[in-house]
Parts: sequence; C-alpha cells; structure tokens
Amino acid sequence: MIVASLQYHMCRMSNTSIAVLGTQWGDEGKGKIVDMLTPNFSVVARYQGGHNAGHTVYVKGQKFVLHLIPSGILHPGVTCVIGNGVVVDPKALFKEIDELARMGIAVDGRLRISEKAHVILPYHRELDVLSEARRGERKIGTTSRGIGPAYEDKIGRRGIRVCDLLSDFPALQEEVRENVSARNRIIKDSTLDWRPVFDQLVADGERMRPWVNDVSLFLWQAMKEGKSVMFEGAQATLLDIDHGTYPFVTSSNASVGGVCTGLGVSPKAIGGVLGVAKAYTTRVGEGPLPTELSGELAERLRESGQEYGASTGRPRRCGWYDAVVVRYSARINGLDALALTKLDVLDGLSEVKLCTGYRTAQGLLTEFPANLKTLASAEPVYETMPGWSSPTKGAKRMDDLPVEARRYVQRLEEVSGVSCAIISTGSDREETIVRPDSAITSWFGESVRA
Ligand code: GDP
Ligand code: IMO
Ligand code: MG
Repeated sequence: MIVASLQYHMCRMSNTSIAVLGTQWGDEGKGKIVDMLTPNFSVVARYQGGHNAGHTVYVKGQKFVLHLIPSGILHPGVTCVIGNGVVVDPKALFKEIDELARMGIAVDGRLRISEKAHVILPYHRELDVLSEARRGERKIGTTSRGIGPAYEDKIGRRGIRVCDLLSDFPALQEEVRENVSARNRIIKDSTLDWRPVFDQLVADGERMRPWVNDVSLFLWQAMKEGKSVMFEGAQATLLDIDHGTYPFVTSSNASVGGVCTGLGVSPKAIGGVLGVAKAYTTRVGEGPLPTELSGELAERLRESGQEYGASTGRPRRCGWYDAVVVRYSARINGLDALALTKLDVLDGLSEVKLCTGYRTAQGLLTEFPANLKTLASAEPVYETMPGWSSPTKGAKRMDDLPVEARRYVQRLEEVSGVSCAIISTGSDREETIVRPDSAITSWFGESVRA
C-alpha cells in the first residue's frame, strides 16, 4: 500500500489535472469552457452520461455540437477518452464521428473508448419512451436516448459492455437472447427477434475495435509521463443520480465522484475542480426550479441566451441565479473556482436578482433540501441589484465590464462561497475573461493557454 501511494505521489504531473463539471441543471456552457482550456492538456476524458449531453462549441463562427466525444476533440493532437462510466450508443457515436469528419475533424489515433463502457441497445430507447409514457404526469422529461434503461441494465448486472462485442460471440449471443426476451416480457405483445440485434452489435464492435482501450491504464500511464488530463463532466450536480433533484435527474454521477468511478482514476489524480455556472439558471425537462421565471422576462432570457436544448431542441426553462444551488454544488464537488458563463445574456436588464435562500413551511432554508415537496414550494429570497446598459459581450478583461456587472459578479461570488476564475462573455473561444491570481493561474501558471 505504502509503495503504491509513494509511486502515485512521484508520478504527479507537472501540470495539474482538473475536473470541469456542471454546477446547476446542465447546459451551463461546459463545452465552451472545456474547449477553451484544452490547449493546457494532453488528454480530455468524459466520465459519465451518454449522448443525452449536448455540448456546443463555436470556433470562429463554426458551430460544433458534441454529444459523446469530449469537447477537446477540436484541438489537433489532444487525445479524447470515453470512460467506463459513459453509456455508448454505437449508432450515435458513429453519427457524431462521421459529422466531425465532414467538418474536417478526424478522431482516428486520438480517440479511446473504455472496454468497460456499457452499450445502449436499440430497445433501451424504446424502454425510455415507454417508461415516460407510463409515468404520465410524473414523467421525468428525459432526452429519450435510452440513458436510464442502459444504466438500469448496468446496475442490474445484465448490461452489455463494449468488450463483450469484440470476442466470445457465443456468450454475447446468450446475453442478447436473454436481454431481448426480458424486453419482450416488458413490452406488451412484443416479439422482437434477438438475431438482428446480435448481428448489429457484432458489426458495431468491429467498427469500434480500433478505439477500444484500457482507459484507466492509459490515463495512469499518461499522468505518469507528466501529461495532464481534463476530466469533462456531462449533465450537472443537480441532475446527479445521488445528489440531484431525484427522481428528476439523469442516471449517472455527474458530480466529481463520477470521475473516479467513471474513468478508473484515483481521487488523488484530481488536482482541481472547476465548476461551470451560468449567470442565471436554466433547466430542461421536469422537476422543481425554485427561481423559475415566466412571462416576458423568461422569454427575454430564453431568446437572448438561445436557451433551446442542444440535443432535443426543447425550450429551456429560465430563472435567476440561485446561490443556494451553487453553494451546494461547491460543497459536493469541492469546487476551487467557478467558470461563470453567459454574463452577456443579462446585458440591458434594468435589474438583476440573486437567490440567497428559500422561504419554506419549515422556515428559511439556506441549504439545498432533499425533499422535493419542500423544494417545489420554496419561495426564493432575492437580492436585487442594478443592471447594466453598456455591453459585457465579448469582454476579455474585468476592466472592460461595466461597474454594475463587476458588482454583480462580486456579490455572486460572495453568496456562492466560491470565486470566478473565468468569466465567459460570449459563445466564442475568444469571448472570455481569464482572471489572473485565480485558481487557473495556480493550476497552469502564468502561461495559461486560453
Ligand atoms: P453545455 O451542455 O454545458 O456544454 O452547454 P450547452 O452547449 O448545452 O449550452 C450552452 C450554450 O451557451 C451554447 O450554445 C454555447 O455556445 C453558449 N454559450 C456558452 N458560453 C456563453 C457565453 O458566455 N455567452 C453566450 N451568449 N453564450 C454562451
Ligand atoms: P449537458 O451535458 C441539460 C436532463 C433531461 C431530463 C433528465 C433525465 O448538455 O449539460 P436523461 O435522458 O438523462 O435520462 O434525462 O436530465 N438532461 C439534461 N439537461 N443538459 C444535459 O446535458 C442533460 N442531459 C440530461 O432533460 O430532465
Ligand atoms: Mg448541453
């Protein structure tokens, strides 16, 4: 044991490996932040979720939406890893790879997929839709991608992993037969034939074969050689299966614990945690959203923030920034700093609000409650601040921000209990403030490449 931990200590890289993850209900702009920080890393690794994620990256006006492939892929020379904690739909994976190829981005030689990642089967999508229909009014509002059913099979110990598609076909055949007949028992009057499912999986495995890898070992070796890794989260802390607004969550650990289980890396490999937070709050799908706005103001945020789902196109619900949520995320993830995004979307509002607590039947709450009824009936306590009329859009330095915007950021930091190392003022890579004397500089030194 002692030898192993010494070895670990000795192989710490000169550059820090960090996790970048969502602090709210997703769509905070993780894709943009991961993309702009990628030049500081050799490897970018996704640790959970599936193609329910939609990470949008703009490079010189060209739009890329990444679902399964890490958002570092747009930088040549960077290796991108899909961890064992991710559920992989081969069809969605190939579609994304083909689309990237059409846009001039080749993945060969720099994509690695964990042999232990579980596979989303065609009928997982059906089961997702069916389960939502059965819940009726109580539906989750899933992305209908089969994410929940695939993770159910994983936890139920009947899942099929990427490595199962590559050899021992009689065993795979047996698994597929059992899984398909279980599915036929669930879906009334269904007689799906296992054979085409099996044939397709074998063909999918063949296409994936060159990318399949022992990802945990690969990351261990990379870090031992002094390379740094960015651990990219999908979804967000409030959608985490354990720490989110259960049951209105996704089926994986989007918070920092997922890094270790979803990639096979030690907690000691995580040198820092950067939480991505929007300057307001959005949510897509069902479940409570205490600061939710309606009417003109909600519409104004939705339109200027272009708040429509990157995966499903659904309009996102919009509300004021909720510091109770971000404080909770800061604690769960041990956030070192925030990357605050979409500040520019608040440009031109006469006033802006920050939620600092919830009024509930149990009294004033300043900690995020587990009970959904409490949350659903919570009345936000707001601090109201003056808005700003000159734009923050495109600002690259704090000094470029109107004084009211600077005050808003400062107060947001105070009530969230974590400071902003990055402030994003537009969707492009360039439209970003990287603050000196922040966690970013302590991770990457003065030569941070952004
Ligand atoms: P993710 O899932 O966390 O990667 O976020 P999405 O890509 O789903 O949603 C964020 C959206 O906001 C994307 O369309 C981004 O291009 C965009 N975006 C990111 N940062 C900023 C910003 O600072 N300002 C504006 N206006 N848009 C941003
Ligand atoms: P990124 O990575 C926002 C939401 C769905 C639904 C719930 C469960 O782009 O931030 P699922 O299909 O996962 O079973 O749906 O989770 N959801 C997301 N919301 N951003 C995402 O990903 C999401 N991925 C899932 O809307 O409410
Ligand atoms: Mg998204």
